[in-house]
Formats: sequence, structure tokens, C-alpha cells
Amino acid sequence: AAYVASLGAGPAIPTEEQYGPEGADIAKGGELFRNNCAQCHNFTGKGGALTHGKYAPDLEDVDPKHIYEAMLTGPQNMPSFPDSVLSEQNKKDIIAYLGEVNSDQTESPGGLSLGGLGPVSEGLFGWIFGLGGMILVAVWVAARTAKAKKS
Ligand code: HEC
Repeated sequence: AAYVASLGAGPAIPTEEQYGPEGADIAKGGELFRNNCAQCHNFTGKGGALTHGKYAPDLEDVDPKHIYEAMLTGPQNMPSFPDSVLSEQNKKDIIAYLGEVNSDQTESPGGLSLGGLGPVSEGLFGWIFGLGGMILVAVWVAARTAKAKKS
């Protein structure tokens, strides 16, 4: 580690004060996450596919310190987010948001979370069950009307 560190200047290892949850604004973190990270890591950090077989990993079990470091360094295809782009407070907020949405204690206020994959899975669910239900009702009504006419 000392040899690698001697090869060039890199960002310092963040301290608990920087990535800890004290003083973090979770709602703001959610907004920042959706604006800066969700295009690759999905809405609640479930990860997703990128071009050329690359993918952005699931962030569910990633250590807060590691999230902070990833934002500073930008591994592989990921852009880096230095303090001039996302301030220390912004990073803290994002980490707190990820901790909140992936905590076992957090219930999904909408009921089923559908894997936290966002509008595609939710839309599909709406189409299949919502529209499917309405079609079934329409068929049932039509069948009853046809029967009533016959008798
Ligand atoms: C352009 C797509 C892209 C964006 C935007 C992006 N990431 Fe990433 N992220 C990646 C990729 C790809 C990797 C995997 C890098 C690797 O394999 O080394 C990654 C890795 C990570 C990791 C390491 C996960 C692990 O298990 O080691 C964390 C943490 C992370 N990203 C957090 C974030 C946060 C927070 C943001 C927003 C501030 C963000 N990323 C924005 C593509 C992205």
C-alpha cells in the first residue's frame, strides 16, 4: 500500500465524520442519487447493465466508507465526483439515502417494492395486472350481456 501510495497523489481515506449518518439529509441524498447515479446504478442502487458487457454493481451491501471512496475515485466506467462536483455534505447525504433504502427496517410505503427496479417493472405490473383485470371484467360483462339476451 505504501508503494502504491508513493506512485502518485490520491485522495485520502475518508473518515467516519465524512461518511457517517450524523447530520445527513436523506431526502436530499435521494434527489442527488437520482440525478447523478441512478442512470447506472438504478433508482435504489440495485445496479444495472451498461454498454460493452460492463455493468454497474448493486450497492446494497457496500460499506459507507467504500461508497465515499468510489465517488472520489470513479472506478472503471464510473465518473469521479470530486468535492467540486458533489460536496462532502452531498456525499454524506447520498450514503445516508443508500443506507435508508437498503435497510431491512425500511418498509416500502407503496406496498410491494417489485425489486426496487423503478418505473419499468412498476409499469409492467400495472399493465399486466391493472389492464389485465379490466379486460377480464369487460369479458365477464360481455358474456353476461350475451347470456341475458339469449334468455
Ligand atoms: C456511468 C455510470 C455510473 C455512474 C453515473 C455512477 N456509477 Fe458507480 N459504478 C459504475 C461502474 C461501472 C462501477 C463498477 C466499477 C468496477 O467494476 O470496478 C461502479 C462502482 C461503484 C461502487 C463500488 C461498488 C462495489 O461493490 O465495489 C460504488 C459504491 C458506486 N459505484 C457508487 C456510485 C455513486 C454513489 C454514484 C453517484 C454519485 C455513482 N456510483 C455513479 C458506474 C457508474
